[in-house]
Amino acid sequence: MKRVRKCVFPVAGMGSRFLPATKASPKEMMPVVDKPLIQYAVEEAVAAGMTDMIFITGRNKRAIEDHFDKAYEVEAELAARGKLDLLELVQGIIPKHINCIYIRQAEPLGLGHAVLCAAPVVNDEPFAVILADDLIDGEPPVLSQMAQVYGQHLCSVLGVEEVPRENTRQYGIVKTDGGEPGVVSAIVEKPKPENAPSTLAVVGRYILSPAIFGHLAQVQAGAGGEIQLTDGIAAMMQEEKLLAYRFKGVRYDCGSKLGYLQATVAYGKKHPETGAAFTAYLKSLHG
Ligand code: UTP
Repeated sequence: MKRVRKCVFPVAGMGSRFLPATKASPKEMMPVVDKPLIQYAVEEAVAAGMTDMIFITGRNKRAIEDHFDKAYEVEAELAARGKLDLLELVQGIIPKHINCIYIRQAEPLGLGHAVLCAAPVVNDEPFAVILADDLIDGEPPVLSQMAQVYGQHLCSVLGVEEVPRENTRQYGIVKTDGGEPGVVSAIVEKPKPENAPSTLAVVGRYILSPAIFGHLAQVQAGAGGEIQLTDGIAAMMQEEKLLAYRFKGVRYDCGSKLGYLQATVAYGKKHPETGAAFTAYLKSLHG
């Protein structure tokens, strides 16, 4: 297998849990303190050595494309006002050597379908997938940790974490041989707690073999009428080794209101500009 240099960002979901905020703009553009979720995700991919960012967009895609494009008017205005620090910040959103590629998913037919939309650009290379609404605070960043695991084992790697058993219905759950990383022997989408093979949940970080595309093309719509990435992975697992890696880091499920608020508090507390005052404010609330 080759080096991983392409990263897919599926950003075409409905984001229904965040309506009305997501009525006219994607949930991945929601900011945590001062950066949209998708920018945290792209920074993580860049840190892991990825050079090609492939966004699977849907309706309301424009904000994401605009965010990573050069904004002449904004830059000219900031330069004219002498706001050079902000100018630098805007110009540094994405490094110059990075390619941004946009593919449209005409209908939100599921995460598996969104990943399959990337096949013509990914071709026969291993690639990463980041779900930007899973914001993970890790050092080194989680995709870098996973790229290292991939480099050692040269097979697909899923980012996993322990979840409370009552929450297994929200995730793909894996069964492994208990190793670190563990070899996956089963993966089930959104099992009931009593049927879950473990409490190890797949969260929004993947490094996948290109063989996944052939399997996704065969997958029938599953849970919720969507083409599930989990089903494609389950089929691929019959033919190729698949590892589950327990990453080091704290995950915030920013697709849910509570997780998003928790991320805002955590990142607000350590932000260089707001950190001290915000921490003091939170303390004052506790009386
Ligand atoms: P979610 O399951 O979080 O769904 O998708 P969602 O539609 O974004 O949000 P809710 O549940 O309606 O609130 C997981 C990821 O897969 C992408 C989403 O953008 C999100 O990053 N996705 C999902 C697609 O790109 N296309 C799809 O058809 C479905």
